Amino acid sequence: METKLWAVDKEEPLINSYPQIMEAASLLKENEVVAFPTETVYGLGANALSDQAVLKIFEAKGRPSDNPLIVHISKLEQLKNLVDNVPEAARKLMDAFWPGPLTLVLPKKEGVSQYVTAGLETLAVRMPDHAVARALMEVSELPLAAPSANLSGKPSPTTAKHVEEDLIHRIAGIVDGGPTGVGLESTVVDCTTEVPVILRPGGVTKEDLEKVVGKVDVDPALFSQEEQHKPKSPGMKYTHYAPVAPVYLVEGSESFLQQTITVAQRKGQKVGVLATEETIAQIKTREITAISCGTKKDLTTVASHLYDGLRAFNATEVDVIFSETFPRTGVGAAIMNRLEKAAGHKLIKE
Ligand code: TXA
Ligand code: MG
Repeated sequence: METKLWAVDKEEPLINSYPQIMEAASLLKENEVVAFPTETVYGLGANALSDQAVLKIFEAKGRPSDNPLIVHISKLEQLKNLVDNVPEAARKLMDAFWPGPLTLVLPKKEGVSQYVTAGLETLAVRMPDHAVARALMEVSELPLAAPSANLSGKPSPTTAKHVEEDLIHRIAGIVDGGPTGVGLESTVVDCTTEVPVILRPGGVTKEDLEKVVGKVDVDPALFSQEEQHKPKSPGMKYTHYAPVAPVYLVEGSESFLQQTITVAQRKGQKVGVLATEETIAQIKTREITAISCGTKKDLTTVASHLYDGLRAFNATEVDVIFSETFPRTGVGAAIMNRLEKAAGHKLIKE
């Protein structure tokens, strides 16, 4: 399949890139699959109202069919065709964080495609805060089902080039609006329970949510690999976000990281290190492939560089990747969640 590429202006796409947006939107209307930028990661969009279109997403990504999709909307009025009712906590969260990197799980309306929800009685919905995503929805007049635009199991794409690496010839088009902002997928919150529950941590933190709705719980499955904790968000059970070489999280001082590197090198391994610029500056051996994922002074830089960093190791010959760890508060919770999945929970502790 030919994959069309459109470079568009991310600030004013409807003014400066109208022909490109029109072309991409008409492919969406023809039930084709088109990747586009959001403020979190690139999404792989298709008409959420068409079974045929939605099935193409699963096929292009190689996504297991029991993993439901998020439906993206550009206007609140689109909700009435998608969800049965909006609980009060969800209404407050929409007012506070939409458009933005927050997905709400709500009771679904009868008639919503079972392929979108993977047979669940609930639907995940989000209003993205990205002019290109919104322009596509406005011009096509469609709600768009969109998972992250990566092959299943790979790190989510934060640039159009990442999407191309994974999906060229598998989808109808890619709208290139430059690198995304947040860099990690949206926070997913289940609003169908008495107390809202975080199913996937993201850029909107637990602390942010609690300021708006009071107590918020976290799905216990996020902290555990044990069988009895089945995640309520089906996607969280799969290994994810992983580069080709095995990733180990290294928790401890910089000298402990240095020792860990030395031990691996003595075994003849080529070592990759994913860490902040401050940590990289402390490492003495230079025969490593060090990739910076931002600065300790501002963990949002780590969030936005994490996936690009993980993907970058695939162009190197490293046998093993050691990653720095971060405090699990604020956006650190989302960073550690993705790192743990990339590492398959392999942790080396001082
Ligand atoms: O930032 C994002 O959310 C990006 C951009 C493109 O919007 N999308 C994204 O989609 O990350 P995806 O499909 O990669 O992740 C969706 C997550 C999965 O873990 C899925 O299991 C969960 O949301 N999910 C979807 N519908 C759900 C539902 N009804 N109940 C519980 N979890 C659900
Ligand atoms: Mg994904």
